[in-house]
Amino acid sequence: MKEEISNIKNEAIAQIMEADSAAELEEISIAYLGRNGKLTNLIKRLKEVPPEERKENGILLNEAKSTIQSFLATQKGKLSVSARKWFDPTVPGNRPPTGHLHLVTRAIREISKIFENLGYVRVRYPEADWDWFAFESLNMPKDHPARDEWETFFVDGPVDPKLGQIVLTPHTSNGQVREMLRVKTPPIRMLNIAKCYRRQSDASHFPMFHQFEGLVIDKGVSIAHLKGSLDSFAKAFFGTERKTRLRPHHFQFTEPSFEVDISCGICGGKGCKFCKDGWVELGGSGMVHPAVLKNGGIDPNIYTGFAFGWGVDRVMMMKAGLNIPDLRLLYSSDLRYLSQF
Ligand code: DAH
Repeated sequence: MKEEISNIKNEAIAQIMEADSAAELEEISIAYLGRNGKLTNLIKRLKEVPPEERKENGILLNEAKSTIQSFLATQKGKLSVSARKWFDPTVPGNRPPTGHLHLVTRAIREISKIFENLGYVRVRYPEADWDWFAFESLNMPKDHPARDEWETFFVDGPVDPKLGQIVLTPHTSNGQVREMLRVKTPPIRMLNIAKCYRRQSDASHFPMFHQFEGLVIDKGVSIAHLKGSLDSFAKAFFGTERKTRLRPHHFQFTEPSFEVDISCGICGGKGCKFCKDGWVELGGSGMVHPAVLKNGGIDPNIYTGFAFGWGVDRVMMMKAGLNIPDLRLLYSSDLRYLSQF
């Protein structure tokens, strides 16, 4: 076998040195190192060699393989140098790719800026939080059926007698009572943007997504203020021709509660295949429930407030008319997809 190895190696080297194109080198590489190459076949036969000779032959085979590989590489280098016969140093170079911010990051920045202009303060609260902040303090006691909607991930760990278990926040509303406890005395104008998690995955849902939550509390805050804030956001974010409407709904933590719709960007509100009746749904909102204010240590006889919580990914997709066929693409880290935007 030893002799065969050395013959094959020398034969390969001779051919490589003669080769004068990359294609030819590729053929040689396949002929020797490919799946059915000459050297590969020898390697396959190694098991037939008597055990006492196997080690030595193995070493020789490895050595032959790396020698052939390094000759291939060297010859390839030589060929490409000789191909570059004429070099013009005045030709501008290739710009290195610089990349850009992810669509969701851009949307978060834009949303923050718009609410900042309205006097909201951006805050952040834990994304793994106690059950109490995510549910109980928002008027959803344990075993309340409303909780089902928030298909929650529970974290194994210690259970606090008052705060309960730790959950991955299924919405940014966990920031509401936290903000009340932090500020203590209103006015409060909070914008909480965070990652949220729910046990769901299909073309329009991803187990991790983003929400932005507004909370405004002061003396004399009314639905008119809520509508004003949302209108103002909708016009700044989607365009001045867009309108919003409030549709009655139910949430445990607001009373009254609304679903906010925006006039369809495709048909301008006339009704089309996409929106059916001229409106598309943005997200939830309402006047903060007195029980929630109390949980945050705020006297509902003195103060009132409104809140809203919408999906960042969702409003972003509606804005641009992006028509993303599958939301999961956004989080796939596939540059072929993401670099289009
Ligand atoms: N947290 C709700 C959700 O995830 C959305 C929501 C509805 C937030 C009404 C609010 C609100 O602040 O007032 O579905």
